Amino acid sequence: MTKTQQGFSNIRMRRLRQTGYIREMVSEYKLDASDLIWPLFVLEGANQQEDVASMPGVQRTSIDLLIEKAKMARDFGIPAIALFPVIDPKKKCEKGSEALNADNLMCRAIEAVKANVPDIAIVADVALDPYTSHGHDGIIKDGVVLNDETVEILRQQALVQAQAGADIIAPSDMMDGRIAAIRATLDENKQQDTIIMSYAAKYASAFYGPFRDAVGTASALKTDKKTYQMNPANKAESMREVALDVAEGADMLMVKPGIPYLDIVANVKEEFGLPTFAYHVSGEYAMLKAAAQNGWIDYDGCMMETLLGFKRAGCDGILTYAALEAAKILKSA
Ligand code: PBG
Repeated sequence: MTKTQQGFSNIRMRRLRQTGYIREMVSEYKLDASDLIWPLFVLEGANQQEDVASMPGVQRTSIDLLIEKAKMARDFGIPAIALFPVIDPKKKCEKGSEALNADNLMCRAIEAVKANVPDIAIVADVALDPYTSHGHDGIIKDGVVLNDETVEILRQQALVQAQAGADIIAPSDMMDGRIAAIRATLDENKQQDTIIMSYAAKYASAFYGPFRDAVGTASALKTDKKTYQMNPANKAESMREVALDVAEGADMLMVKPGIPYLDIVANVKEEFGLPTFAYHVSGEYAMLKAAAQNGWIDYDGCMMETLLGFKRAGCDGILTYAALEAAKILKSA
């Protein structure tokens, strides 16, 4: 080996970084609009639009405006949107019964988007928190979130959403056994082709704060979700959680939140090989926006670099509030 000086070989890593076209030739990962899933908040009414204060650039919109957003997403090559309903507090109760109403806001939103924008996938969140008066994802007795009783409700919630036309059912509740129960209920009711994207490793995270503002559960929630969502200190446990969901019939897996959990994403993709997604959650989005609003970071640069990081970690796709912004940048590049 020729040594130009002590400890310096003739290998020069910078050779492959000289020009844009060479860098492009040797680039390993690429972000594409087809990697993006756009979460959207839906409201009652017509022509309604409200800003979410803690999520600059994000609005809650009524179904008519939601349809316009779905069309935009499709036109920019985004394959899926994830819907989250903002339920009227008058319709909330201890048991979250409104979740099972086949004519609720969520089901009407699914039907309307499917009727008007048939060529985009709808990801429907399954959990009770938008519907319960206490803001928890399940039903509560003596301060305890009950597992099996909640699963009985979730399987019905999944079915009404699938019957409304959701392509993908995404249980975000973290109850044990819910994937098997939902799969069985869908299959028994001729919904065997409905896809399940499991929030397989979902951590009890402080980064969900702005989302809870957006759907209006923040003020109701008096206790944390640590008895069902995972402890951020745990890694081996995530493999057990995910293995169960795979065994129970999940088609796709999700890790949540995103950036602080990319080690989990990499492990999940490598170990299970299923289509693997991560949720770049509300607090992560809010941090980028806040720093950019202060002039401290370049938003587009930091946002695109963040999304590329998800791909490098092994993600097949990313749920992000920045999906449309990213798709626009990709199209203009
Ligand atoms: C609730 C749910 C949450 C999110 C998605 N589904 C919040 C929670 O678990 O309290 C968070 C998404 C985000 O922060 O962007 N089942």
